[in-house]
Amino acid sequence: MPSLIQSARCIVSRSQLCPSQLPILDFLAPSALSIRQPSRLHSTIPPSAEPSNPPSRQNAEKSNKPPRRPLTEAQKDFLDSALRVNQAGELAATLIYTAQTPPIVRAHPHLRPLMKHMYDQEAGHFDYFNKLLAKHRVRPTAMYPIWQAAATALGWGTAIMGREAAMACTEAVETEIGEHYNEQLRVLLDWAEKLEKSGEGVSEEFAVLIKELRRIRDEELEHLDHAVEHDAKEAKPYELLTNVIRGGCRTAIWISERV
Ligand SMILES: [Fe+2]
Ligand SMILES: [Fe+2]
Repeated sequence: MPSLIQSARCIVSRSQLCPSQLPILDFLAPSALSIRQPSRLHSTIPPSAEPSNPPSRQNAEKSNKPPRRPLTEAQKDFLDSALRVNQAGELAATLIYTAQTPPIVRAHPHLRPLMKHMYDQEAGHFDYFNKLLAKHRVRPTAMYPIWQAAATALGWGTAIMGREAAMACTEAVETEIGEHYNEQLRVLLDWAEKLEKSGEGVSEEFAVLIKELRRIRDEELEHLDHAVEHDAKEAKPYELLTNVIRGGCRTAIWISERV
């Protein structure tokens, strides 16, 4: 697998690339390349929200825009770890709900639609980041099997404690994940603002990434609201449970960004 630096160099001459030399994290660069338009990353973005004129070399020349620069090493590193930790988080979320659902639904059948709704959204998030990792050749975290076991144990354990504890788990996880996505969005929006000011503008793919992260962040916060509405704060011991889970989430994020 080529290194990030090698791939950045390859981007310049992508027209001569062999198929194995696919782009890595070139969200900001495709308009300067225009070898192929980036594929649509998600079908839920309404067509009206997409840029009407996808960037291309021809368009850039017509508008006298400066060619878009490739990502810096620091930006590549940021996106590399951001996508890796996002995938790990969504993996954990799907497994938590998978483990929670049987005991919770058995004891509280009326919660079946809610559990399915939240699981389905998490499965969609996981699928989105799986595709992004594959497309941009970002390696998953080496902790993948550990997080699988930990998330399943957390989901099963809180479900056995009862409906309130399961909801407190969702509240704690979504609080941390919501903040995590907000931090990523702050960084990406800062990049976008600087690119707009420089006249380069942002690529369609980068704009779609920001929209998708916002949508996913909003869905996580919706889960948080559902958990609170379903008595998360009645869990016992609420403070201890949520603090331990939130601390675990922060630790898992920190590790997954690096390993
Ligand atoms: Fe999610
Ligand atoms: Fe979620």
